[in-house]
Amino acid sequence: MALRNILKLPDETLNKKSRDVTAFDDKLWVLLDDMHDTLEKHDGVGIAAVQVGILRRVIVIDLGDGVIELINPEILHSIGSQRELEGCLSCPDLWGYVVRPDFVKVKSMNRHGKPQFHEADDLLAIAICHEIDHLNGVVFPDVADEMVDKDEAEAERERKPHRKRRKKKVRR
Ligand code: CO
Repeated sequence: MALRNILKLPDETLNKKSRDVTAFDDKLWVLLDDMHDTLEKHDGVGIAAVQVGILRRVIVIDLGDGVIELINPEILHSIGSQRELEGCLSCPDLWGYVVRPDFVKVKSMNRHGKPQFHEADDLLAIAICHEIDHLNGVVFPDVADEMVDKDEAEAERERKPHRKRRKKKVRR
């Protein structure tokens, strides 16, 4: 287990586009395990490899009910829209509202290079879209339609207790 340093705005690496993973080897598995440890340590719900300085298309998500690893993800299909408050481990003390699809179907690879498919709604759909944005060099303040301060962010979470997961902070 190892923790990696999380890049924060305005680090320009966060605006770079990540490349596809081509080798499903020990190096990738160590990266995935380290990303999970780092995510857990910071009480986040999702992390993209670029956030630890690796420009590869790798995502780890944990909403509190199991770890999801997505490598070279692509959204095949999306339906509807939802507008929710987002935060990000790379954007401390920033919160804002982003419009995301309500449902996504995603194709990706698992850590062994086998294709896998996920269908996601609610917070998982948001997390997947937020992390795929990271792979394309986009951080949520770039796509938020409204930024709010800390008090307002906390008040919004109080209003929507059903959206809270096991982990207290909703950061990706
Ligand atoms: Co993020």
